[in-house]
Amino acid sequence: MFADKSTPALDPARIPAHVAIIMDGNGRWAKKRFLPRIAGHKAGMENVKVITKAASRMGIKVLTLYAFSTENWKRPDAEVNYLMSLPVDFFNVFMPELIAENVRVQVMGELAALPAKTRQAAAAAEADTAQNTGMILNFALNYGGRDELIEATRAIATEAAAGTLDPTAIDGDTVAAHLMTNRLGALADPDLLIRTSGEERLSNFLLWQMAYSELVFAPEYWPDFTPSVLTRAVADYQARDRRFGGIDANS
Ligand code: IPE
Ligand code: IPE
Ligand code: MG
Repeated sequence: MFADKSTPALDPARIPAHVAIIMDGNGRWAKKRFLPRIAGHKAGMENVKVITKAASRMGIKVLTLYAFSTENWKRPDAEVNYLMSLPVDFFNVFMPELIAENVRVQVMGELAALPAKTRQAAAAAEADTAQNTGMILNFALNYGGRDELIEATRAIATEAAAGTLDPTAIDGDTVAAHLMTNRLGALADPDLLIRTSGEERLSNFLLWQMAYSELVFAPEYWPDFTPSVLTRAVADYQARDRRFGGIDANS
């Protein structure tokens, strides 16, 4: 049916609702071309637009993109500054298309620690797309899974100490409700996690939420990750058997 065998047909009834991507390999993409690392980040930003549209048209409900980790502050100042300017450029240029695609932007992370211009760009993007009803484009910006669990623990302990929360009633839903993904409701946990660039680790991403996610590691650097590679990753996902600790119905 398809001229290009590398782009398989997907089962429209089993599109993963929440796809999370660790967009890795921008620096190596640039190095391979004898370009500065920031050129890789610029190419990576351009690719966010391409993959956002492809994901939205595929029927994905939430696309969470790891844009900056709580550990990425360790990088040289010039690179960090450039990364902090990217959301400003991205939303400036891409906002009309996001609105046309009916995409709703959300941003999660330790946002108070971001430069004011970055925080303002994120807040404006959320406000300008708040009425959209299509795919949620959820950016993880200055996000760390451990940091998120520390904050949740602190908030839960504060409520318990204040007497508004009974410690014996704390359960998984209590924890989930205090995580940064709580706005996503029933879609908080990714069905599929993709990491580009061939690295096979989580690097502090969505530690609680990823307990039963299917993991796909793609060799492509993020700027080279095309819609057809996304389709292949989703096809991989559709070939998996998710048991969540149980057994198959026909076992
Ligand atoms: C991912 O690409 C982008 C961020 C972490 C912000 P990298 O910058 O990590 O690229 P590599 O891993 O050095 O190639
Ligand atoms: C993970 O990539 C963070 C983002 C993609 C934003 P890193 O490049 O920071 O991860 P490590 O250092 O290789 O684990
Ligand atoms: Mg990296």
